[in-house]
Amino acid sequence: GKKGTIEHKGDQPEKHGLKLRSQLWFDNPDNPGMTALYLERYLNFGLTREELQSGKPIIGIAQTGSDLSPCNRHHLDLAHRVRAGIEAMGGVPFEFPVHPIQETGKRPTAALDRNLAYLGLVEILYGYPLDGVVLTTGCDKTTPACIMAAATVNIPAIVLSGGPMLNGWWKGERTGSGTVVWKNRERFAAGEIDYDEFMNVVASSAPSVGHCNTMGTASTMNALAEALGMSLPGCAAIPAPYRERGQIAYETGKRIVDMVWEDLKPSDILTREAFENAIRVNSAIGGSTNAPIHLNAIARHVGVPLSVDDWQSVGHKIPLLVNLQPAGEYLGEEFHRAGGVPAVVAELIEKGKIHEGALTVNGRTMGENCKGKLSWDREVIKAYDAPLKEDAGFIVLHGNLFDNAVMKTSVISEEFRARFLSNPNDPEAFEGRAVVFDGPEDYHHRIDDPSLGIDEYTLLFIRGTGPLGYPGGAEVVNMQPPAALIKKGIHALPCIGDGRQSGTSGSPSILNASPEAAAGGGLALLKTGDRVRIDLNTCTADILISPEELAQRRADLQGHGGYKAPESQTPWQEIQRSMVAQFDEGMVLKPAVKYQHIAQT
Ligand code: FES
Ligand code: MG
Repeated sequence: GKKGTIEHKGDQPEKHGLKLRSQLWFDNPDNPGMTALYLERYLNFGLTREELQSGKPIIGIAQTGSDLSPCNRHHLDLAHRVRAGIEAMGGVPFEFPVHPIQETGKRPTAALDRNLAYLGLVEILYGYPLDGVVLTTGCDKTTPACIMAAATVNIPAIVLSGGPMLNGWWKGERTGSGTVVWKNRERFAAGEIDYDEFMNVVASSAPSVGHCNTMGTASTMNALAEALGMSLPGCAAIPAPYRERGQIAYETGKRIVDMVWEDLKPSDILTREAFENAIRVNSAIGGSTNAPIHLNAIARHVGVPLSVDDWQSVGHKIPLLVNLQPAGEYLGEEFHRAGGVPAVVAELIEKGKIHEGALTVNGRTMGENCKGKLSWDREVIKAYDAPLKEDAGFIVLHGNLFDNAVMKTSVISEEFRARFLSNPNDPEAFEGRAVVFDGPEDYHHRIDDPSLGIDEYTLLFIRGTGPLGYPGGAEVVNMQPPAALIKKGIHALPCIGDGRQSGTSGSPSILNASPEAAAGGGLALLKTGDRVRIDLNTCTADILISPEELAQRRADLQGHGGYKAPESQTPWQEIQRSMVAQFDEGMVLKPAVKYQHIAQT
């Protein structure tokens, strides 16, 4: 039937001519033996045959919260409101755990677990009697993992964000998640604060339940879930402890039941237009450099063509509108009060930068949901014509160092620009001497070694930090300069690498380089002392040596067995390394991509 047109809320299946997927398990008279086995164990905690056999939608609540994942932990409480919403519409809730992913707690990386949580959730959504699912999201990788799985299975699915923490405060100033660490580790390195003050100022940035309150990867991915149309309007920005968070949990539970009756599936929502909307919203919010990896992964699983170059062609020219740390000043509470994602979308709609017809989970289009919902606070969400920065999207660099790498040019500081981008004859390019580190441990051991000769014009490189080199890819490319330089007032050197960086970092790094050194990328051929040229106008990044010498270095490296990555430490590390794609292809598990829209109906 036509999507989004059901008006008889909470009606029974015969009115819709729809045989629910769950009834293949719970009410199949052709196979009474199997049906009885499927049914009986779900009755033993008090459910009745009436609930399971009368055609009520069975709704999963994919629970990402646990004691191990504190950013998402309050979903354990929100689930009560989701259940109430589901039951109010005649559905039956089934809550189940998703493999935990805690960005700051998981070794060696939380990113390693994105694909593991994805695989686990695919099996659950495919193999159990679920007609629809509420995806509880929050901490960085939990959001893409859940949406990727819903895209693969393609049963009706709706995102419920957990929401950011309240604003952090320390001595009268806002302290934002992650950003406070990057700022204060410099002060600690310079001897301005001691260990105790460092711990206390960082802890002040986390005053309540919720995910990071900066526009880091968590707030970015939840905003993009909403921009894709996968959550109710306004859902992403509501702070975790606010009353509206519990209320939208209830509305989300209500809505998924009707989505089942309308057969409104991820493939109806996650279209090319939806991804282009999300890319532009990412530029306007100053979103994380992890977003291309995760959105490209979702696109691959739902079968929509999307490339890393689309991020520049679709997103670069969009201005920065949202004044949140790390690119700006404010935090999650102000973003919500100013209007959140609908206000950003409304601003983009005014300039024709949104595909207004893109369908969303509430059955209405992005235009219907957001048009005219302009910002309440122009200090926090700027007007399109008076932005914080022009051209705030990413650029994508190419060259002999890598096939592609992403750079967030909107965070280039005036001081950095003066040092590296001030040659009047060549204003958008710089050259410098490379110093190369092999992984974060090597960086930490050697960064303060005076024999490396690092000065204010040095380019810092790190490799061995991609999906293969440091399983999942390490957030380490935003390397801090040596302490001696920081004491002289040099806060950033150009950083280039095959790893990622935290979305809470304001560093203008060149990162997500694909292919990584461990996959045969050009970074493996670089040597300390080489000169490297970065040109932001032609979007190129090259080692300045001859093609012959480059070929010789490649032959030498291959003669020694290629660039060495450390051994795997766990079974999953080895399995993922055997089949994972590079960052530009979303770091997906390659064999998984062909399984699309697999739900039995
Ligand atoms: Fe979990 Fe930032 S560490 S949201
Ligand atoms: Mg992170």
